[in-house]
Amino acid sequence: MKQTSLQIPFQIFKDIHSLDPADAQLLESAKSATRDAYAPYSKFKVGAAIRLLNGHILSGSNQENASFPAGLCAERVALSAASAAFPGIAVTDLALTYVNESGDGNRPISPCGICRQTLAEYEQRFGMPIRLILGAIRGEVFVFNRATDLLPFAFSSWEMTSH
Ligand code: THU
Repeated sequence: MKQTSLQIPFQIFKDIHSLDPADAQLLESAKSATRDAYAPYSKFKVGAAIRLLNGHILSGSNQENASFPAGLCAERVALSAASAAFPGIAVTDLALTYVNESGDGNRPISPCGICRQTLAEYEQRFGMPIRLILGAIRGEVFVFNRATDLLPFAFSSWEMTSH
């Protein structure tokens, strides 16, 4: 038996103003996208903004449904929009933020498990890490070097093929 452990590197910024300008701009785009959320059930409005390798920025917001599982998270809306508009172009960064029912939020949001799995697929597909810029309407911002840092031991197509 060998005991081991994993460490996840990430950066903590005091607030949006402490970020690199490009990251701050992406997080602002995510913030704007919260206004387009359709969240009548949770009243939790999430915005995601994506930067592509070609420099384009696209955004998405959560889109809920009376049949709850049919709802989509902001990250997957943004990723699908990017993939549809710019097929084959790698995603380099994704910024995420939210506004809660009280119009506030001071703790960085973290992608749900399904979105982590989806992000892992995009990283694998393009062979490129997706930086995550995770914020709230105010307060600290967490930056991760790659989405799969939040999904260690991710399931991938590697296991499905023989090597
Ligand atoms: N949500 C997102 O859009 N992204 C996440 O990473 C977490 C959750 C949405 C789904 C649902 O519309 C609402 O937030 C409450 O779960």
